[in-house]
Amino acid sequence: MRKINIFDTTLRDGEQSAGVNLNLHEKLEIAKQLERLNVDVMEAGFPAASEGDFQSVKQIAETIKNVSVTGLARAVQGDIDAAWEALKGGAEPRLHTFIATSPIHRKYKLRQTKEQVIQSAVDSVKYASKFFPIIQWSAEDASRTELDFLAKIIKEVIDAGANVINLPDTVGYGAPEEYGKMFTYVINNVPNIDKVILSTHCHDDLGMAVSNSLSAVEHGALQVEGTINGIGERAGNAALEEVAVALHIRQDFYQANTRLKLDEIKRTSDLVSKLTGMIVPSNKAVIGKNAFAHESGIHQDGVLKEKTTYEIITPELVGVKSNSMVLGKHSGRHAFRNRIVELGYSVDDGEINRVFKLFKDLADKKKEITDDDLVTLLVDEKVANVEDMYQLTSLQVQYGTNQIPTATITLTDREGNQIQEAATGSGSVEALYNTLERCFGISITLDDYRIQSVGAGRDALAEVFVKVRHNNAESSGRGSAQDVLEASARAYVNAVNRLLAVEKNKKLLEKVGV
Ligand code: KIV
Ligand code: ZN
Repeated sequence: MRKINIFDTTLRDGEQSAGVNLNLHEKLEIAKQLERLNVDVMEAGFPAASEGDFQSVKQIAETIKNVSVTGLARAVQGDIDAAWEALKGGAEPRLHTFIATSPIHRKYKLRQTKEQVIQSAVDSVKYASKFFPIIQWSAEDASRTELDFLAKIIKEVIDAGANVINLPDTVGYGAPEEYGKMFTYVINNVPNIDKVILSTHCHDDLGMAVSNSLSAVEHGALQVEGTINGIGERAGNAALEEVAVALHIRQDFYQANTRLKLDEIKRTSDLVSKLTGMIVPSNKAVIGKNAFAHESGIHQDGVLKEKTTYEIITPELVGVKSNSMVLGKHSGRHAFRNRIVELGYSVDDGEINRVFKLFKDLADKKKEITDDDLVTLLVDEKVANVEDMYQLTSLQVQYGTNQIPTATITLTDREGNQIQEAATGSGSVEALYNTLERCFGISITLDDYRIQSVGAGRDALAEVFVKVRHNNAESSGRGSAQDVLEASARAYVNAVNRLLAVEKNKKLLEKVGV
């Protein structure tokens, strides 16, 4: 049985999904959960991309001790220096450097000849090996690269010191058989290939990222890269939970397995979905709401007689709990803390106290507090940013079928000043957002608005995701509350706070000349 390393890039390639912008607290929470999931490597970001990226890679590398943390760098010394500064405090610093190798990228993007591309790649790997014990080198757009050139450059970067060679299907163009054969070709035509591990990294433009990744495993790859829930650039990356469960369920075929704790999959998927605002489709393999639901009579009959008739994956395998425990307004602090620990979260006393208060407030309005509710309260508290510029203090909305919806909102800024405004709109949410726009005093475009319930029932918590834009800066935000309008306002305030935090960092950097 071959052990396949799982390289998670949710925080780098996943965060490149349109409209996703995670803050440091959120990235740290995801990193800690990836550690619990037991991934082998996590790519925490692209340190040279921005000060924010640099700081999050650094903090993650310094916090996460049981997983090798890596950061991305182009084939230039400045990027490698930034990556080293960010990663050097980690338990096992690892660099991920790349250069494009395909004719299209060489000609139009890099404007370099084959020889120049080889030289840049070799120079960067040699330079990186002065600092990093482990270097992964990626041939961007490998699947559209001439095979003989690919073999040549791989040989050179291995001689220069690379330990892992990653062959991405960057634009999701490869077909499984063809992509797999690229690995066979490389294994047969690169003389020093036995010195390295081969890795696969697939995008999902044609919906084949997972199949391509599995084909690479069949043809000799020992590392699979991807993201949780398959999030990422354009159509996303290979969904790691699908790859891992496919390898597990079809061990007989692939003769390979991973070290992932599969029963942490659901929790990881929920956290990533919550913090990125990218809702998992109900029919998504492995983690979708309907993945274990049997609808038709024939299927239900079969499952009742013998589960394996229609169920190849059990919900328990991936951590889907069939009966979640319910707490209520009479539940004490002890039961509350126990449940949070049982759900797998580590919490300090301060967090327990704050979330317990939120729990009690919610329990006054909602009869049964489910695990989903608890996780929502807990995650909101964990990622709450004390540096937020504005807090929502109160809101009032007047709505009637024959009335013009009107909202009145009070915000409190960091200095304790209150800002109160009122405005109308053609609907309640528009009235709310027009009012908030007045409070902030800047023009904001709403690019996306989505709402979902946390669990079932009329009294369920509402969770709202928004994407907003001011000038050319984009931001997303999330808010939950029992009332849909309050959740809508919280999401908007959250998005604008993030926008303002990014603007503030930019201004600070400009001031110090970065
Ligand atoms: O898709 C890709 O080619 C990448 C590289 C940077 C590895 O993400
Ligand atoms: Zn990628």
